Amino acid sequence: MTAEVTNDAGRTLYDWLAQKNAPVLDVVRAEGVWFETASGRRVLDFASQLVAANLGHSLRPIAEAVLAESERASYVSPAMAHPAKDELTRRLTGGVLPPHLTRISYCATGNEAVNDAIRIARTVTGRDVVLFATPGYHGAQGTGADTSGDVRRDLMRSRFTDAVPFLGPYRPGVSTPDSAEVALERFVTAAQAVGPERVAAVLVEAVPGSNGVLVPPAGYLAAVGEFCARHGILLVCDEVMTGFGRTGRWFAFEHEGVRPDLVTLGKALTAGFVPLGAVATTAEVAAHFESSPFVSGHTFGGTPIQCAAALAALDAYEAGDVIAAADRAGGRLADWLASASAGADWTGRSRGLFAAVDLADGARAGEVARALLASDVYCLQRGTFLMLAPPLVVSDEELDLGLARLGEALAR
Ligand SMILES: Cc1ncc(COP(=O)(O)O)c(C=O)c1O
Repeated sequence: MTAEVTNDAGRTLYDWLAQKNAPVLDVVRAEGVWFETASGRRVLDFASQLVAANLGHSLRPIAEAVLAESERASYVSPAMAHPAKDELTRRLTGGVLPPHLTRISYCATGNEAVNDAIRIARTVTGRDVVLFATPGYHGAQGTGADTSGDVRRDLMRSRFTDAVPFLGPYRPGVSTPDSAEVALERFVTAAQAVGPERVAAVLVEAVPGSNGVLVPPAGYLAAVGEFCARHGILLVCDEVMTGFGRTGRWFAFEHEGVRPDLVTLGKALTAGFVPLGAVATTAEVAAHFESSPFVSGHTFGGTPIQCAAALAALDAYEAGDVIAAADRAGGRLADWLASASAGADWTGRSRGLFAAVDLADGARAGEVARALLASDVYCLQRGTFLMLAPPLVVSDEELDLGLARLGEALAR
């Protein structure tokens, strides 16, 4: 796909790309599951942009909530309470999250939420080591970067030496997972090598997203959680990409029968309207900070505008029964993957409206993504796989249209 950019002044530096290749698209407006480019193309968004616009684009109730809140109190310091933050904490801990997660801290991004969660775990346990699953991605800065078991890690990390990787259920280059028993044994061996008494936290994505929608074998994460509980290690589930309905439940860890001590949130918490990150934790963990300070600081963490956007997003997730609908649409997506991949040179994996089409060949994956975009469907491509993550409000017709075009791109 050649670039068709009209608005870029050539002075913006774009993330992750060699600048001569960026940007590819120039978005002038977006509505529902579609965005429109400067040249007038209507493109079906099979990525929710960066897996953030879970409710689709440009929702009026969220825009109105942000406007109303910014007229009431545009900015309040994170050290102060205000009604929108109070209400958001009540909603998140009063039914959205499982009942054992009763305390919330706010920040601005998913990466900051991971940094805070790990800081909390190390402070509360008095231990230093963080065992993190690979492949995985937790952000491009600080602790998030240090704990990203991702090909980009060496470019990003700050050399925090107590972050120790362990290989999750998927071996590099293999598109199906090892059994829960084999993967668990690998995890336990890594933990024993460090000494579990030195480990503050185990950091996982229940379904690692950026590295290929790696759905774990049943029972694996629950067994990792039991090991953590036995050794006083805090389990951190990073739900920045998978949270808020992506996998057909509010959170991906809910499929796994696991009880995380800390959960990180971001992206779709506000449906991508404004940046807001959060860490949810238990009363036991939070009790540590009753009389000693919680050492963290974000100028933009839980401001009225951020919280109003999240509250309006929660209204929309709940009122439209969006997560149950996403679960049903996920079934349709899984059926398509199963039938279209039969006898093909690619494999499919999915959970809810979150899928990977794995071509085992990076060059071919790039060609398919470009062919798909040429037919006005946008999805993310990394390495050998395409990621499918349409807004949860996608209709059956829109889903079928995108999948039909994907089928054509794959058949070339
Ligand atoms: C699982 C996960 N954690 C953390 C992050 C970092 O979030 P942010 O880019 O908002 O800092 C990402 C971003 O994609 C992610 O997928």
